[in-house]
Amino acid sequence: TNAMALQSLFSLLVYLFILKCQEQNTSLFGIKPSRFHFNKPENYISMYHQEGTDRLYVGGQAMIYVLTFTDRGVHDLQGIFCGCGHKQYCKSHDLECDNFITVIQKVNDTFIVCGTNAGSPRCWMLVRVSSDSSQIAAASDISPPYPSQRSITLPADGNLYSAMSSAGSHSGSIRRTFGYQKLLKTENIWLLNPQFAGAAIIPSSHKFKEEIYFFFSEINKTARVDEEPYRARIGRICTVDEGGIKALLPESWTTFMKARVMCGAGNTQQQYNNMKQAVVLTAQDKRTGVMYGLFSNAWGRTVICAYSIEDIDQAFSTSKLKGYSSQFTGSRPGMCVRKNSTAGAHNDVKNLGVIRYYPEIEDVIRPVGVAPLDLPTDDQITHTVADIVLAVNDEHYSVLYLGTEQGKVLKVLHTSEEVFIISQYSLFHNEGPVLNMAIDSQKGHLYVGTAMEVQRLPLADCGRYGNTCRECILSRDPYCGWDRARRKCITIPPGYNRRTSPKEVVLPSNTTIFLPCPVRSFHATYRWEKDNCIKNYPCLFSGDFCVLGPIVDTPLKEGVFRCMATEDGFKVEVISFRVVNDGRLLAASLASTLGLSLLLAIATLWLH
Ligand SMILES: *[C@@H]1O[C@H](CO)[C@@H](O)[C@H](O)[C@H]1NC(C)=O
Ligand SMILES: *[C@@H]1O[C@H](CO)[C@@H](O)[C@H](O)[C@H]1NC(C)=O
Ligand SMILES: *[C@@H]1O[C@H](CO)[C@@H](O)[C@H](O)[C@H]1NC(C)=O
Ligand SMILES: *[C@@H]1O[C@H](CO)[C@@H](O)[C@H](O)[C@H]1NC(C)=O
Ligand SMILES: *[C@@H]1O[C@H](CO)[C@@H](O)[C@H](O)[C@H]1NC(C)=O
Repeated sequence: TNAMALQSLFSLLVYLFILKCQEQNTSLFGIKPSRFHFNKPENYISMYHQEGTDRLYVGGQAMIYVLTFTDRGVHDLQGIFCGCGHKQYCKSHDLECDNFITVIQKVNDTFIVCGTNAGSPRCWMLVRVSSDSSQIAAASDISPPYPSQRSITLPADGNLYSAMSSAGSHSGSIRRTFGYQKLLKTENIWLLNPQFAGAAIIPSSHKFKEEIYFFFSEINKTARVDEEPYRARIGRICTVDEGGIKALLPESWTTFMKARVMCGAGNTQQQYNNMKQAVVLTAQDKRTGVMYGLFSNAWGRTVICAYSIEDIDQAFSTSKLKGYSSQFTGSRPGMCVRKNSTAGAHNDVKNLGVIRYYPEIEDVIRPVGVAPLDLPTDDQITHTVADIVLAVNDEHYSVLYLGTEQGKVLKVLHTSEEVFIISQYSLFHNEGPVLNMAIDSQKGHLYVGTAMEVQRLPLADCGRYGNTCRECILSRDPYCGWDRARRKCITIPPGYNRRTSPKEVVLPSNTTIFLPCPVRSFHATYRWEKDNCIKNYPCLFSGDFCVLGPIVDTPLKEGVFRCMATEDGFKVEVISFRVVNDGRLLAASLASTLGLSLLLAIATLWLH
C-alpha cells in the first residue's frame, strides 16, 4: 500500500506543479535585485537551494514555488500542495490548520517534501526510478505539526538526518530518517524539550571521524518564574554510527554527546540562553572553522556569538562526563570508530552504558572573545547566513549576513579584532521581518525571503562603494578590489589569489634568512607583519629596502610575513613571503578565520 501511496503522490506532485510562468522586467543597469512577489502573504517559508544553481524552492502555505532567477527576472512555477482532510485535529490554531510546507530537501536524487498537513505532518517523495516502500515509511518524523516549530534536515552521504523540535506530545528528537545506513534516534531522556536552531557536518581528514553537530535550546518547563528556562546546547553524533547492541541502544545513537553553550559576557548575569539559529563555516576536509549562533535573552534582545570549532571538538574529545566519575577503560565512550573495528563501540558494552546514562559533557562551550560580537546596531536579528571569502590579500574572512525584524540585511565582516558593518540593505517595499535566507557561495548569491517577496542579491556588490580607490578600500568589503587600470571597484575574479599569493621561501634547517621589502616612498612608514598583523616588526635596517632579519624576539620561522607601508592613513601591502621549513608546505589553516585582523587596505595586491 505504501508503494501505491507513493505512486499516487508522485503523480499528484507532477500534476500540481503546473500553474504559471511569468517573467518580470528588471533593470540591467546597476545591480537591482531580482525579486518575486507572492500573491498572498506567506508567513512561514521554508527554502531549498542547491549551490551552483539559479533555482530556489520556497515552501509556503499549501504551496511550493519553484523560482528560477535570471538576469532578466524571475521565472516561477507554483505547485499546490493541499493537505486537506485532517482539519479535525487542529482546533484553536486556525492559521496552522493548512498544509504548510516545512521541509524541502534533496537526498541524492530523491526530493523530499514535507508539510504540516493540518496537524498530522507527512512527507512526499519524488523517487527517481523505483519506489521503495520502506523508504516512505522511514521518512516519518521529519516535519513538525505546526509551521512555527523548527525542524532541521541535513543530507549527508545519501542519508537524511532530521532534528525535530518538541511540540505537544512530541518530545523532540535527532534522527537518521532516511538512507542506506541504519535509521537511528536519540533516547528521550537525552533531550529536554529541544527547540532546534541548526545542524552542520563537521568534516575530518579521516572520513570515519566525520561528525554532525546539532544546535538547539532546551527548555525546563518546571523552572520557577525567576529562573532562566532556556539552555543553549550542541549535540553531536558520528556519521558512521550504526547503533548499539540488542540489549543496549539497539535503535539509538551510540555516539551522542551534548554540551552547554554560553553566550554572554564572562560569568555575568547578562546571558543569552535561547539559541535561535546557528551556522557553521568549516574547511573542506579539516576540523577547523567557526560556528555563529543567533541568541536571544528573556527580553527578546538578539546577539551573535562566535565559537571555534576546534574548541568544541576539543571539549567533546577530552571533557569529563557530567555525573560520571569513574576512569574510562580502553577507548573513550562516544568516539567515532571505523565500522569494521573490533574495538568499536558496538562491542564495548561498558561504553554504551556510559553514553546511555551520561551523554552530557562537563566542559562548557564559551564564545571566542568571551562575549557576544559587538555589533553596532540595535536591530533585532531574525535570520543569519555566513560566507568565507578569500580576499585579494590571500586571507580568509568571515562575512555574516544578518536579516532583521525590519526587513533589512546587514553585511558584517568579522575578524578576531572587530566586527564591522560593511553595508546595509533596505530591500523591501514593506518592512516585514526577514523570515529566511539561503546563500550560494559558489555562484555568489544571497536569497532573502519575507512574507511578501523573495529577492536575490549578489554577494559582491562592489559598484556601490563609489568611484575612488579610497572609498573602495575603506568599504572593507573582502569581495571587492580596486582595479587600477579600469579605475573601478570590482569583484575579485576567481583564481586571482593564486597569482598573487605570497612568494614562497623554503628555509633549510638552521639557516638564517633576510627578507627584503623595496622602499618606494620615503613618506611612508614600513613595517613587517606576521600572522595577519598580530605580530609586527620594524625594519632591521632600511634604505632602499626595509629588511626583516632574525633578531632576538623575531625567530624567522614558518609563516606568512608581509611588508606593509603606511602613508596618509592608508596601509598597503608591498610584498609578502611565505616561509616554509625544509620544503614542508604550510597548511593554509582556516583557523586563521579567527586569528586574523583586518588589513585596512585589502586591495593592496591589486595595485600591480
Ligand atoms: C520589458 O522590457 C522590454 C525591453 O526593454 C520592453 O520592450 C517591454 O515594454 C518591457 N515590459 C514591461 C512590462 O515593462
Ligand atoms: C547516494 O550518494 C552517495 C554518495 O554520492 C552514495 O554513496 C550512495 O550509495 C547513494 N545512495 C543511494 C541510496 O543512492
Ligand atoms: C528545572 O527547574 C526546576 C526548578 O528549579 C529544577 O528543580 C529542575 O531540576 C530543573 N530540571 C532540569 C532538568 O534541570
Ligand atoms: C577494516 O579494518 C581493517 C584493519 O583495521 C582495514 O585494513 C580495512 O581497510 C577495513 N575495511 C573497511 C571496509 O573499512
Ligand atoms: C641545527 O641546530 C640544532 C640545535 O640548534 C642542532 O642540534 C643540529 O645539529 C643543527 N643541524 C644542522 C644541520 O646544523
